[in-house]
Amino acid sequence: MANPFRYGELVSGEYFFDREKEKKELHQIIESAINVFLYGPRRYGKTSLVLEVLKERKGSQEIPIYLDLLKAPTKRKFLELYAREIAKAVTTKFDEALNFCKRTFSRLIPRIVFKANNIPEIEFDASWTRETETAVTEEVLALPEEIAQKKGRRVVVILDEFPEITNYDGKKFEGILRSFIQSHQDVSYIFTGSKRRLLLKMISDPKRAFYKSGKIMPLGKIPQEEFETFIAQRFKSSNIRIAKENIKLILEMTRNHPYYTQMLCWELWEKVSIKKQALKEDISETLNTTLNHQREYFLTLWDNFSPHQKVLLLALAKEPLANIFSREFINKFGLATVSSVQKSLHRLMELEVVDKTNNIYEISDVFFNLWLREEVA
Ligand SMILES: Nc1ncnc2c1ncn2[C@@H]1O[C@H](COP(=O)(O)OP(=O)(O)O)[C@@H](O)[C@H]1O
Ligand SMILES: [Mg+2]
Repeated sequence: MANPFRYGELVSGEYFFDREKEKKELHQIIESAINVFLYGPRRYGKTSLVLEVLKERKGSQEIPIYLDLLKAPTKRKFLELYAREIAKAVTTKFDEALNFCKRTFSRLIPRIVFKANNIPEIEFDASWTRETETAVTEEVLALPEEIAQKKGRRVVVILDEFPEITNYDGKKFEGILRSFIQSHQDVSYIFTGSKRRLLLKMISDPKRAFYKSGKIMPLGKIPQEEFETFIAQRFKSSNIRIAKENIKLILEMTRNHPYYTQMLCWELWEKVSIKKQALKEDISETLNTTLNHQREYFLTLWDNFSPHQKVLLLALAKEPLANIFSREFINKFGLATVSSVQKSLHRLMELEVVDKTNNIYEISDVFFNLWLREEVA
């Protein structure tokens, strides 16, 4: 029998749950062709959510184009990825996509490469001079609107992990991209970002190109009750008994974090799938095994922090709900001053070791947090 939980990959269908409110909002956003910035910490389910919404819209008229910017560390890679995904989005067969590229791009010469499992993929050759780059940029960035007009269908472009574009050439590319997007009437753009600070800076600084250029939509955790129902159903689907208070215990440990909760449940299911019952001690044993497996990684991670950052992390692990800028908290943990807390916090958030959700600062990796509490603090 297959494990009913999933983590570390996109979830959809029966593995995807809740997010009803967010799905509805995204549907409306797409229907009214406005742009949206969806942000939330890593592994909260942004990609799964957006792709689930697109799946639900399969019968509708729009043409979706999805780009994972983690696959595009440079501007050229971005342009190539964009060109390829557009080609795939407007065609149904590989050969058609290839022909589309040949017809459409004047400077990008497509060729076929074979990926794992012999799956063909398009890559491009180009003699990348400055002039080529300008030409390709203009051709590719203008395409979504051209396609929309030509086909009389709206286009939805998803730029997943959008703040990655700031790595390309500072703010110049940001400005160019924005100038195209601005003139697109029949394309809606969905921008997502895990790097909250970077994304919010891009859209809230009047000097930046994307200033106020779309609706802002934060993605929080999944509400406790929905999560309880989901976990109960998933265990029940494979005839495993688990008491309600034990489900609550799991969620307490994982603080409702979508990814880490699925991970713990996955491991727990593996442990109890034969005896068909998950008891309290199964949960703590599963947790211990999981922490042990990651011990080396946690130690290496821990080594990287400055002494002050370490003290702050331990304090956060111990008192996740405290006001970390209060005099009381600072004195209790020997954190010196408000400004030193701010400095360490800033760095830890930049490293995505700490997240801020609903005005609470949390160590993002739930297991690292538990490990700190059990082994270091
Ligand atoms: N709506 C959901 N239902 C079930 N699991 C989810 C959901 N959202 C997120 N998850 C869990 O979180 C993991 C990360 O999701 P992902 O969409 O990759 O997040 P992000 O794009 O925000 O980094 C998934 O593999 C899954 O285990
Ligand atoms: Mg993602």
